[in-house]
Amino acid sequence: MAQTPFLLSARSIVKSFGPTQVLRGFDLSIARGEVHAFLGGNGAGKSTLIKIISGQHERDGGTLEFDGEALGATVAAHVEAGAIAVVNQELALLPHLSVAENIAMPRLRRATQKYSERAAQALAVDALSLIDPHFARESASRLVGDLTLHERQLVEIARSLGSGARLLLLDEPTANLTAAETARLFAVIRRLIAETGLAVLFVSHRMREIRQIADVCTIIRDGKTAVDRVALDAITDREIVECMGQSVESDGQTGAAAKTIRTRAATGASAGGAQRDEITFAQADLRVTLRPGSILGLAGAPTGPSALINALTGLAAESAWDVERDGAPLRFANPGAAARGGVGFISGDRANKGILETLPIVDNLMAAQRVVERRSVARRAEVEQGARLLEALNMRVGSQWDLPSTLSGGTQQKLLVARWLTLKPKLLVLEEPTRGVDIRTKREIYALIREMAAQGCAVVWWSTEYVELVELCDTVLAFDLDGRPTGVLTHADVNETNLANATGMAA
Ligand SMILES: Nc1ncnc2c1ncn2[C@@H]1O[C@H](COP(=O)(O)OP(=O)(O)O)[C@@H](O)[C@H]1O
Ligand SMILES: [Mg+2]
Repeated sequence: MAQTPFLLSARSIVKSFGPTQVLRGFDLSIARGEVHAFLGGNGAGKSTLIKIISGQHERDGGTLEFDGEALGATVAAHVEAGAIAVVNQELALLPHLSVAENIAMPRLRRATQKYSERAAQALAVDALSLIDPHFARESASRLVGDLTLHERQLVEIARSLGSGARLLLLDEPTANLTAAETARLFAVIRRLIAETGLAVLFVSHRMREIRQIADVCTIIRDGKTAVDRVALDAITDREIVECMGQSVESDGQTGAAAKTIRTRAATGASAGGAQRDEITFAQADLRVTLRPGSILGLAGAPTGPSALINALTGLAAESAWDVERDGAPLRFANPGAAARGGVGFISGDRANKGILETLPIVDNLMAAQRVVERRSVARRAEVEQGARLLEALNMRVGSQWDLPSTLSGGTQQKLLVARWLTLKPKLLVLEEPTRGVDIRTKREIYALIREMAAQGCAVVWWSTEYVELVELCDTVLAFDLDGRPTGVLTHADVNETNLANATGMAA
């Protein structure tokens, strides 16, 4: 058989979602038996490409070749047969079924075999044995809902791998794993490669771990290939970070203009005497004081920033952080109490942490105000206030009685910001507030938050996009992969390279 040089070649791949052009002629080549790190900033299009290679999305243009064969509609056949196996960023197992049932159901259905518990067990143990014989015996009859995330991932890998597996696509498999779990996953990957010779495409933002497991890397930026199959020995962390940086100019604004509007925050790590409305949070020997009007960035893997955000917004009963306002302990029993105490919260996880999908826009706009004022619904006044807000924020909506699902993701996100505008919180906590938002809406959100800061609101902003932190924050608190604070970067030290070093994350 004539061997093509690559197991998989993707050429000039183009893909848009509505007006958003995600892939603009992207190339990727994967060789047999290699671990290939696929790198790029958040929203760069990595998951989209993985879904195209695994037949979950249709491409708008470009060619795919797998093992010498041009792939058109046949992608799905290779995925069905397990030659191309994929574990998506969002895991897809059914928690109320057993491991055996999750693995066996699709296969038995394919084989049009009658379902029996015994057949399911046998199939599952077979599939799992390929990746971990001990785990196979021990886990087959357990409920997926009772497994750790790491164990669920092993089940997903086993479920998607066929006996002739050639390519395994892993989309951010370690994002929420501990260091020990990551080491175990890597051991599984190495054994799989040794035993089957399959190739692995692996998405991760963690530099150390990328260097531990991968041979080569490809970097996506602005929908194109910025770095094509470069050996990890031949590229420095700094170069990787620089190549990943999404261009701030892509919306027509110049980098220089962006710099001039950068807020100079009055935040600092200090033992500082109590001032009015000063918020201090401390842990071990670290003490950060947040003054009104300042924007403090949080950087790093989710664990560290989430713990601090939960402590500030009443989402955690216990916390390693001691939070004080003007020297008095500040601890809220729940997010409602935090809102009444002058703390606002906006998450980029709109679907789970913000948008009330079954209520009209007006209720979404007024949700925080109702919690704060503990009052009943005053329809006429609210609709009038809502109309003023929508106009001031340049939000185009049909009617305030429409459901939020009629709005674009970016407009929904502005709605979450709008909720807090009239309440003038003393502290606004933002958790990746621009996730999945187009660049123009991002700029609008930056402007709104800067305006709130200018009026004296203190802001804590967690972002996984370093460009965003560099542009908005004069001070950034960085966390390592285990959630420990690694230090405070200030002024000119807030740049993408230092953030990558302080967090162990490339972006
Ligand atoms: N199903 C979808 N519908 C609309 N937009 C999408 C969809 N999937 C992804 N996007 C958008 O495409 C862009 C790339 O997303 P994604 O591939 O998930 O990036 P990455 O995995 O690199 O973080 C983002 O702007 C995202 O909002
Ligand atoms: Mg992704």
